[in-house]
Order: sequence, then C-alpha cells, then structure tokens
Amino acid sequence: MKKNKAKDTKQSAKPFLKWAGGKRQLLDVFQDIYPKALKEGKVKNYYEPFLGGGAVFFDIAQRFPIKKAYLYDINPELVLTYKVIQKNVEKLIGFLERYDEEYKKLEERDRKDYYYDLRSSFNHQRFNIDYKNFSEEWISRAAQIIFLNKTCYNGLFRFNLKGGFNSPMGRYKNPTIVDQPNLLKVAKLLQKAVIRNVDFRMIEKDIDKDSGFVYFDPPYRPISRTSSFTAYSKFSFNDEEQQELAKLFRKLDKKGHLLMLSNSDPKNKNPVDDFFDKLYADYTISRVDAKRSINSKAANRKAIKEIIVTNY
Ligand SMILES: C[S@@+](CC[C@H](N)C(=O)[O-])C[C@H]1O[C@@H](n2cnc3c(N)ncnc32)[C@H](O)[C@@H]1O
Repeated sequence: MKKNKAKDTKQSAKPFLKWAGGKRQLLDVFQDIYPKALKEGKVKNYYEPFLGGGAVFFDIAQRFPIKKAYLYDINPELVLTYKVIQKNVEKLIGFLERYDEEYKKLEERDRKDYYYDLRSSFNHQRFNIDYKNFSEEWISRAAQIIFLNKTCYNGLFRFNLKGGFNSPMGRYKNPTIVDQPNLLKVAKLLQKAVIRNVDFRMIEKDIDKDSGFVYFDPPYRPISRTSSFTAYSKFSFNDEEQQELAKLFRKLDKKGHLLMLSNSDPKNKNPVDDFFDKLYADYTISRVDAKRSINSKAANRKAIKEIIVTNY
C-alpha cells in the first residue's frame, strides 16, 4: 500500500462501487424520514437486507451512534467484496494499485484487451471460488470486482443469468480505480458490521434477537414484464417477492422494530398503479423526488418519484 495520496481526507466514507438503485442522491431527503429514536441516538442495531452500494448504511453509521450493523445481500460477489474490505483492506489496496498502474499506462486498444482478458478470467474463476469461506483468493477477486466496476460501461454492473459479469468496457480516460482514503474509512465502519450473503427471507432470525431499525431497499418493481432491469437478473424479484417482503415487514412491525422501505413509485409510469399503496395500506406512505443515474440516455434522467413506507 502506497502513502496516502488523497487531497481531501476529511470527506466521509461513501459507496466504493457504482450500484444500480444507489441511494446517495436521496440521503438528504432521508434525514427527515429516519425515525426519531435513531436521530436521538437511541437505536443500537441497524439492519439492511438489500445492501447494494451501501449508501444508507454509510450515512447512518457516520451520523448516529449505532453499536452494530447487520448487512445482507443476495449477490455473492458484492458480499465477498465487503468482507475483503472488512478483513484485509491493505492487501486489497495493494492489488488495486497494481491494476491501476498496469491499466493507466496502456493505449486505448491495449486497455480494451486488458479489460476483456480480466473480465474473462474473473468469470472463469467463479467456479473455483468458495464463497462461504474467506481465503486469500477473495482479495484478488474483490480487486477485480472493483476494477471492473470502475471501468465498465456507464457503471452498469451487470451479471447474466448464469452469474457471469457481462458489462462492456466503459469510456473513461482516467477512472478512479483505487480510492485509498475512502476504502480505509469504509473498512473502519465495517468493523461494527455482520455481513451475510443471504436472501431476505433468511434474515428474520437475526432481527428477532435485538430490536432496531431496519431499512429495506429491494430491487425495483419492473414497469412491465419485459422491462425488468437486468442488474440482478440471476436473482429475480417479481411481485411475489414484493408480497413476501411485505409479509416480513408486517411480522417485524408486530415485533416492535422500526421499519423503513423505499421503492420506485410505479405511478411514475402508470398513474393508476397502486400496487404498493395496497400492499402497505396499514403504514405511512410518502413520495419523494428521486433522480436515477443509471440510464444511458441523458434525456431519461428526469426526476421521478420514490415511494417511502414507514411503520412510525
Ligand atoms: C436497489 S438495490 C439496493 C441499493 C442500495 N440501497 C444502495 O444504495 O446502493 C437492491 C439490492 O438487493 C439485492 N437483492 C436482490 N434480490 C435479493 C434477495 N432476494 N434477497 C436479498 N438481497 C437481494 C441486490 O443484489 C441489490 O444489491
């Protein structure tokens, strides 16, 4: 690991991956929606079953005195990367520095070969990785994940049905492949986290133990059957999953946990679609402006609404 080259080391920890559905642009709005007990420092345990890029976890862990965070996601590559940062961020940074150096000195055509060769070996390796038990191999894999995420097309970190990463190369002249100060801050925050690679249906027991605040940010409900966003294509999330999640929401509500859930408002496309209004009719529903950044057509980046459900 080289000496800290950062200009601004005061900035707070932020997501280290570009991730579809990232909540960074909603954090200001969320301050007014978080429960009072959290803001008063009375919440000790934080749970996030659909972690993704982790924007909300980083925000909460740096603003409020939570003691422990339970973070979950079904994507094994994502969870592997978080765990590597938690366990051995220095070695990870060393790998990233090597990729950064090798990649940046290449001409455009050679960069293309570098990207696709790395993508191909990354995809082959997945059959030999033990995703359950931490090993040294995880560290280089996490570095590859970060490298591919930072250099792929439009930050669209996409996996096909078989779990292979298939995004084409992006057009960045000088991508930030290694952000050492941020990775170090992220690693520090992750020391208070339990990170698990599980489906949301498996987390009830964990949450049963201690009461706390749970923030749910499930995959968006596709606007039509054909428009299903492919970023999590291996893990389909359709209306049935949304309904099961609502069941879990009701159960946890009965047990006294503080709950907040967000989703893209289906009324953005179909003003009479009241799917979530019906599903969460017993709770407080509000709508806030959201800007989506993962969209290749700039004209489509218009403000749309996000629906927020809370039980407080
Ligand atoms: C909308 S994203 C979360 C974005 C996150 N809040 C952020 O700011 O980056 C949804 C996440 O849910 C995960 N996911 C999809 N299906 C899941 C399931 N059945 N159980 C747990 N996680 C799931 C996806 O891998 C994805 O990371």
